[in-house]
Amino acid sequence: MSTLKPIDIEGAVRRTTTLDIRARKRSNGATPLVCLTAYTVLTARLLDAHTDLLLVGDSLGMVLYGLENTVGVTLEMMIAHGQAVMRGAKRSCVIVDMPFGSYQESPEMAFRNAARIMKEVGCAGVKIEGGEEMAATVRFLVQRGIPVLGHVGLMPQSVHTAGGYKARGRSEAEAQKILADAKAVNDAGAFAIVVEGVMEPLARRITEEIDVPTIGIGGSPACDGQILVTEDMAGLFTDFKPKFVKRYMDLGSGIAESARRYAEEVRNGAFPGPEHCFGMPKKDDHDA
Ligand code: KIV
Repeated sequence: MSTLKPIDIEGAVRRTTTLDIRARKRSNGATPLVCLTAYTVLTARLLDAHTDLLLVGDSLGMVLYGLENTVGVTLEMMIAHGQAVMRGAKRSCVIVDMPFGSYQESPEMAFRNAARIMKEVGCAGVKIEGGEEMAATVRFLVQRGIPVLGHVGLMPQSVHTAGGYKARGRSEAEAQKILADAKAVNDAGAFAIVVEGVMEPLARRITEEIDVPTIGIGGSPACDGQILVTEDMAGLFTDFKPKFVKRYMDLGSGIAESARRYAEEVRNGAFPGPEHCFGMPKKDDHDA
C-alpha cells in the first residue's frame, strides 16, 4: 500500500516568486505590489493573506531591539527572524535584508553570506542597499542563483556617511546619481528595487525609466508597489513618525490599554476568575 498522501491541488497554496514580482510592472497593466515588513511568526501569519511580498527588514534592529540605527544588526538576527517569518507566511514572497557588514567588502563575501541566508531561512531572495558601487555584487549573486531586491535613495545602513535620514534627490546632481544607481542595479539583474525617501518626481522618473518594478517607501504613488514597516503602519512603533508613514490603527494604545486593565484586575482580585482556574469549585457548588 502506498504511504503517499494525495495532493490537494485545489487547496494548494502557491507561494509568490521573485519572477512573479519581477513581472508586476504597472506600465504593463499590473496592480500595485503590496509589501510590508515582518519579523515574527505571528505578524507573518496575520499579514500573509494581504501581501505580495514580506520583507524581513533590518529595521528590526530599531523596532524590535531598540537599537539607534540598523548598523548593529547581525546576520544571526536576520536568519533567526527570517526563519520565524517563513514559518508564518505560506503565500507571500519572503525576502531577507542583508545586514550592514555582510556584503559590502566583496562579491564573494556577499555570496557566502547570502547563500547562508538562503539555505538557513529558505527565503526567496535577499535585499542589498546600494547603487552603482553595489552593481557588480548584485550581478555576482544573481548569476549564481540568488535573487536580489535592490534598495536606492535613502539607505539607512549609510546613516553615518549620509549624515541622517533626510529625503534624497533634492539637487539635480543628487537626483541624477540616484537615477544612475537605480539603472545600474536594474541592469545588474535585481528583480525589483526599493526606492526610499526621495523626491516624488525622482521616484516617478525611476519607475518610468527602469524595467523592473519599483517599491516605494517615501517614494511616489507612481511606484509599482509600496512598502511600509508594519509596526509603523499599525501604530505600534511610535518613537518617531517619518512623513511617509500612514498609521492605519493605534495598536500601541490598544496593547497599553489591555495591560492597564489586566493590572487593575490583578490588583483588585477580579482576575483570574474561576473560569481561568483548574479544579476550582464553581460559584453554584459553594451555594449548594
Ligand atoms: O529594513 C527595512 O525595513 C527596509 C524597508 C523599510 C524597505 O529596508
